[in-house]
Amino acid sequence: MYEKIQETAAFIRGRLKSSPKTAIILGSGLGNLASYIDTTAEIPYSEIPNMPISTVEGHAGKLLFGTLAGVDILAMDGRFHYYEGYSMKEVTFPIRVMYELGIKNLIVSNAAGGMNPDFSVGDIMVITDHINSFPENPLRGKNFPTGPRFPSMHEAYDRQFISIVDEAAKRLGIAIQHGVYVGTAGPCFETPAEYRMFRFWGADAVGMSTVPEVIIAVHCGIRVLGFSIITDLGGYDNVVEVSHEEVQQAANAAQPRMTAIIKEFLKTLP
Ligand code: HPA
Repeated sequence: MYEKIQETAAFIRGRLKSSPKTAIILGSGLGNLASYIDTTAEIPYSEIPNMPISTVEGHAGKLLFGTLAGVDILAMDGRFHYYEGYSMKEVTFPIRVMYELGIKNLIVSNAAGGMNPDFSVGDIMVITDHINSFPENPLRGKNFPTGPRFPSMHEAYDRQFISIVDEAAKRLGIAIQHGVYVGTAGPCFETPAEYRMFRFWGADAVGMSTVPEVIIAVHCGIRVLGFSIITDLGGYDNVVEVSHEEVQQAANAAQPRMTAIIKEFLKTLP
């Protein structure tokens, strides 16, 4: 596995004109954010050795390099989901490669179902913490020397980054929520009883991604900022049927606000 990571990183490095320190994973329906990037290089996943290929509708599947708000970035347009059949090692492979490429900051985004009764469809939630409800931890198996065998997760989402986003959102006059994201294997949306259970657990939003990537990023010492776009509501006594199309639509509607916040964050990135 380590040889594969190095091979992939070497291939990507050979195509780069700069060495970005910040990466963004564009989640469901957030692919349009890619159009705001001043792109200098673009590599389809299919051309990258050892990269799994994204299959889900709405995920383009390419790496983008360029600048956003004047900051060099690497963007993953399309991610690998556990529900697509990838192993946890495959889902998190790009994060391992990012580490090899020298990435220090990671911005993750996703579409999620809101369970906090104060949330509305279209809200942007800054992830303050997560609950791992996947059946497998991506760190299971021989430990990688990037971090300890039993890594701390007490601050998986960087507190300084959260304060910067709070201030950025205030400056821009964009309302944001804060909350705990619970990551599940999917691909089923939750039953009413499951939404209720997750709410009792202390989660504010639920989705099918992000947690594995964040665990690996934290293990690698990469600082993480996470956003969920609330695309549907599954709160107590408030379970409405949800479809993939609705999720995409709601995520699309929130994209200009998400982009503005991310750009403002990048401008003040320490
Ligand atoms: N549950 C799980 N994943 C999701 C949801 C949801 O309600 N909405 C968007 N992704």
